[in-house]
Order: sequence, then C-alpha cells, then structure tokens
Amino acid sequence: MKYQIAPLYCRPWTLNGITPRLIESHYENNYGGALNRLNAISAELERLDPATTPAAVINRLKRDEATALNSTLLHELYFASMGGDGRAVPEEMAEAIMRDFGSVQRWRQEFMALAEALGGGSGWVLLTYVPRDGRLVNQTATDHNQNISGGIPILAIDMYEHAYHLDFGANATAYIAAFMRNIDWDAVRTRYRNAVKVEPPPKLVQKQWPDLPAMTVEEVKSMIDAGQTIQIIDTRPRHYTTRAQDIMEGAVWRDPERVDEWIGELSRTDPVVTFCVYGFHVGCETAETLRKAGFDARYMAGGHYAWKAKKGAVKLFE
Ligand SMILES: [Fe+2]
Repeated sequence: MKYQIAPLYCRPWTLNGITPRLIESHYENNYGGALNRLNAISAELERLDPATTPAAVINRLKRDEATALNSTLLHELYFASMGGDGRAVPEEMAEAIMRDFGSVQRWRQEFMALAEALGGGSGWVLLTYVPRDGRLVNQTATDHNQNISGGIPILAIDMYEHAYHLDFGANATAYIAAFMRNIDWDAVRTRYRNAVKVEPPPKLVQKQWPDLPAMTVEEVKSMIDAGQTIQIIDTRPRHYTTRAQDIMEGAVWRDPERVDEWIGELSRTDPVVTFCVYGFHVGCETAETLRKAGFDARYMAGGHYAWKAKKGAVKLFE
C-alpha cells in the first residue's frame, strides 16, 4: 500500500444540517474507494515493464492514476473544509479574500454560483492559491482533474451527488447552503498560511546586468497610454532586421552596433526604453551604454516578442 488512508478530519457529529450517516458513507465508499483504486493502479503500474508495455496501456493507467490521486486528495481537503461555524471568517482570510475578490460577499456568491452550476452534475469547486501571482482564485474541477497547475487548493466543496443525496435528495442548493454554514475557517487559514510560504516560480535573472533597470511591457504600455513622452528604441541586431516584419508602434529602429552615430539625436531629458528580440542581450547592452552616457535609459524585459505577446501595437517594419 503506497498511499495511506487519512483519518476523517472533521467531527461529523458537530456538523450543522449534514448527518454523520452522509459523511460516513462518503468517507467509507467514495474516499475509501478512490484511495483503494489509487493503490491498485499504482501497484499495476509498478508491475508492468515500461519497455515492453504498449504506450496506450501506460497512458490509460497514468490517466486513471491521476484521477484517483486527485479524488483522494480533494476528498481529504473536503472533509477538512468543514467543522467550523462558517460565519466568522478570520481577519487574515477576509483580507486575502477582499484583496482578490473585492469583498467576502462577492467571493461567496461566486463560489456558491460555481457549486450551483454543478448541481445535478458532478465535480468540485475549489478556492485555490496560485503562488505565481500570490493570489486566490475560485475554480471548478470536474472529473477530479483540471486543478490549476502549481495551485494549492485550500477549500473544497464536493458536488458529486454522493456528497449530498442521502441528506438532501436532489436539492443541491440546500446542500451548498449547509456546506457554507459548516466551513472551518480556522483550518482554511492554516492552509492559506502554508500555501503562501510556497515561493513563486523563479523569475528570469539577467546575471550580466544585475543592476540595470528594466521595464515590463505593461509599464511601457501604461506610460504610452498616459501620454508620457518616451523615446522607444528598437535595437534588434542589423542581421535580424532582414526577417523582421513588424516593429513596435512608436519605436524607431537604431543599429545597436552604431550607438555613437545616433546617440546625439536623443533628448537628454525624456526617458529612453530600448528593446531587442527577446530582451536578453542587445537591448540591455544598449541601455547600459546610454546610461553610462547619462541618459535615463532602461530596457524592456522580454523584448519585441513580449510586446507582441501582450498584443501591443505594431506597425510594418520598413
Ligand atoms: Fe465525494
């Protein structure tokens, strides 16, 4: 047995409007079922020889394994989501929810609407922390899959009928309301505190230019939109220009090899932004040269392609 069973986290007799009988059946049959399936699939995967087993067989088993593993993990989170009084959202949690949803009320309405939409169907609604952006999102996950990559779910409602039919029949709405009344916000807060300790994925580090100031394409865009005067210089290498089809709107191309020839054209008072194809070298080098000459120059991180990926305006390169 590779995966161990987790004891029931919430105390079923304390729940408000949800009977121990429902929780017992859910825990024993559905959670237990998922865990046993997971162990059976893992054992089967271990037994087979990946060198000789058809790829389609391995693929099917791995898909089933992911489904059973997610079902196991999400059921554990679900049972750990209840057992509180649902009302008193701790200040720290309320602040995080307000930051990312505008208000606790708005979060609640969205979370419940997503659950409502799964009534009569199946799936999960999760409140998930995304380390990349350091923010919380509500999400639906059907078939125990579709969890946000890198996301850490901290609250889950099970919308499979087996989660409510015994107590509520087909009345998913009454079940959702009962679930909300039973949320254990202290436990959610503990999971949130653990989740925010996860660092976002490492950012690109430009080791050659540790102190060179960069601007994101979003920052450049908002400067342009605000009507600020800004000198944008396309410093893509000359050899590249033969296959360049477009250029950032408002930018002029200047040969990065001949800075001396065009540096005199620049205004000394207005900020300068340089960019190259991807933002690794040439744009940085040029920005550094200009800074040494006393200009307020920065490079645009991600270069021409980041600008285009962000749907920044471009014109024909001539
Ligand atoms: Fe379930």
